[in-house]
Amino acid sequence: MSALLQVEGLEKRYGARIGCTGVSFDLFPGEVLGIVGESGSGKSTLLACLAGHLAADSGQILYRGRDLGAMAEPERRVLARTEWAFVHQNPRDGLRMGVSAGANVGERLMAVGARHYGAIRAAAEDWLGRVEIDPGRIDDRPRAFSGGMQQRLQIARNLVTAPRLVLMDEPTGGLDVSVQARLLDLLRALVREMGLGVIIVTHDLAVARLLADRLMVMKDGRVIEAGLTDQVLDDPQAAYTQLLVSSVLQV
Ligand SMILES: Nc1ncnc2c1ncn2[C@@H]1O[C@H](COP(=O)(O)OP(=O)(O)OP(=O)(O)O)[C@@H](O)[C@H]1O
Ligand SMILES: [Mg+2]
Repeated sequence: MSALLQVEGLEKRYGARIGCTGVSFDLFPGEVLGIVGESGSGKSTLLACLAGHLAADSGQILYRGRDLGAMAEPERRVLARTEWAFVHQNPRDGLRMGVSAGANVGERLMAVGARHYGAIRAAAEDWLGRVEIDPGRIDDRPRAFSGGMQQRLQIARNLVTAPRLVLMDEPTGGLDVSVQARLLDLLRALVREMGLGVIIVTHDLAVARLLADRLMVMKDGRVIEAGLTDQVLDDPQAAYTQLLVSSVLQV
């Protein structure tokens, strides 16, 4: 199986300040990579570079063997629409709050060429059901939904086009614990079923444990430890990771 993403020596600076530096890893289809680390450690910066929201200063990102840095912008935009998905921490950043739930899901299908109204509406209904939103609420605006429902809607909007690569920044961040647990179950099932490659940034080691096959620990913009999730959490090597795991540090 060939890698979905191959990242080599990625660096992003904000003036003199390091956002992230020396980041290298591979991600394979069907694999969930967790990124943990304290506030300001470079997690969101890394994710934004991977998503193309920020331009890296150096290093290379290969997506299915193709160098994203050398790719023309229109081609990149097509990929972003068809093969990549980005789930924001705050659903308001990933949804269009002024249009219905159905339109939020349906417009992503239209962006990849779907034109048949009935088929688009049926797919939107199907996806609302899959993320456990009553399809009867298809014409409601996201504003009328709870935070957990909004996040599930954002996930439906992102997955309806069957992307290959999904980037998530604290997708369960603002949710209470029981809502979070259901969302994690749902995500886990969808990842397995669709064979998605996922990178998930989280503050929460329990979330990482539940969802991630592999883990990268970041500190001051660098990856200081990486490995299988259970290995990293049960037998952390770096002193910082040991502190993180023993809950001495509040991340
Ligand atoms: N727009 C920006 N301008 C200047 N510095 C920035 C900017 N965004 C991030 N930084 C700096 O880059 C470093 C990494 O920040 P980043 O947001 O990637 O951390 P994070 O790990 O996502 O933190 P958090 O867990 O709080 O979301 C920090 O030192 C931060 O101050
Ligand atoms: Mg962040």
